[in-house]
Amino acid sequence: MDKFIIRGGTKLTGSVSISGSKNAALALMPATLLASGKYKFENVPDLRDITTMCRLLESMGVEIEKTGHTLYINTFRVNKFEAPYEHVKKMRASIYVLGPLIARYGYAKVSLPGGCAWGPRPVNLHIEGIKKLGAKIEIDQGYIFARAKRLRAAKIAFDVSSVGATGNVMMAAVLAKGTTIIDNASIEPEITALTEFLIKMGAHINGVGTRRLEIEGVDALHPVNEKMIPDRIEAGTFLVAAALTSGNVKLENCDPNHLTAVLSKLEEAGASITISDDWINIKASKNIKPVDVTTSVYPGFPTDMQAQWMSLMSTAKGSSVITDSIYYDRFKHVPELIRLGADIELNKNIAVIKGVKKLRGAKVMSTDLRASASLVLAGLITEGSTEVLRVYHLDRGYEHLEKKLHSLGAKIRRVSGKEY
Ligand code: EPZ
Repeated sequence: MDKFIIRGGTKLTGSVSISGSKNAALALMPATLLASGKYKFENVPDLRDITTMCRLLESMGVEIEKTGHTLYINTFRVNKFEAPYEHVKKMRASIYVLGPLIARYGYAKVSLPGGCAWGPRPVNLHIEGIKKLGAKIEIDQGYIFARAKRLRAAKIAFDVSSVGATGNVMMAAVLAKGTTIIDNASIEPEITALTEFLIKMGAHINGVGTRRLEIEGVDALHPVNEKMIPDRIEAGTFLVAAALTSGNVKLENCDPNHLTAVLSKLEEAGASITISDDWINIKASKNIKPVDVTTSVYPGFPTDMQAQWMSLMSTAKGSSVITDSIYYDRFKHVPELIRLGADIELNKNIAVIKGVKKLRGAKVMSTDLRASASLVLAGLITEGSTEVLRVYHLDRGYEHLEKKLHSLGAKIRRVSGKEY
């Protein structure tokens, strides 16, 4: 298992190119099951999670060729309609195959995702939504068995706005008979990207980017090519890295419109931000002001940026409060940040951070993707050296993180597992 060794203290300067969105790619790749044919996806990030999704789709008969950041996907020979536990346990997003399989093939056997590092992540909204579309669903031996002759339209109102459930139910509804309404739909950019992709494939969907989707089912869709949107969470992570190190960094190939909440919080913390249509420049101030954050669904402050924000607040000039209203237990990074000298008190889903003068290097453990990112960020400003262990968590969602940070001046290197 690889680790990162980071020596804190350098200001990050220069420019970095943001990769394609992991969470858009993880939604669009299974959508290719909805129509047989050849697809070309560009700007696909080179990540472990993408590889996991490729392996899962290939186990179903999908043929995938990867050249750099381009995927060539061929769904002519899909012959298996299952997502086995060994795939799903690696990545919760595997459940995205459920909707397309039941819509296109009338059958799906999908393993229930296990928990993840920060606790239970139910899939009841996915299951209830697809049941409402007329599928017969049984849960047995940890699997979801779904059958349907042809799905029929329904009115579905999610009591919780869910990215995954919106994507799954929408992918099921595009081939259902009649017009399905989804209320309280997720409007995260990755779901809007999926909606636009399905429309390009021939789906009839009104309300793109709104919380009410009207989906008039069609008999068939057709393959199309697509370019992935930029990864807004990778971009946010680099913005925080620049702010933490009092740096001056330009992010290229990103979409500032996807980051309004994060950008305004960074300006409140003292950074000066200039933006254009596909780049953001951040010039950090010497002193970081304490800024409270409560995570919420898009366009609010993303839960996927909560841990990174906590690293920024750990050396702010004063106290701040971070509340995660999406995941009440997404705080595995707190004890690790405390090992680096942060002063954080956690009470249920509310963390109070008292800014300290300095963090001190130590060995810290990655537990999940964004928690690991927060430890790397903290390592950029610790005195001495910090070792972040089990960085395979990071490789799931950040493309060559250490190389990109190093190109901005960070003293960071990867030590492969066998060397220690
Ligand atoms: C997506 O997960 C993202 N993953 C997550 O990013 C992100 O943290 C999350 O959305 C929230 O923004 C992908 O897109 C692959 P949800 P998802 O369904 O779809 C509850 C990362 O770091 N809920 O929007 O699983 C759930 O418990 C990953 O890239 C139900 O109650 O999240 C949570 O409280 C981590 N029942 C809330 O909804 C359900 O059936 C939002 O979850 C589904 C969800």
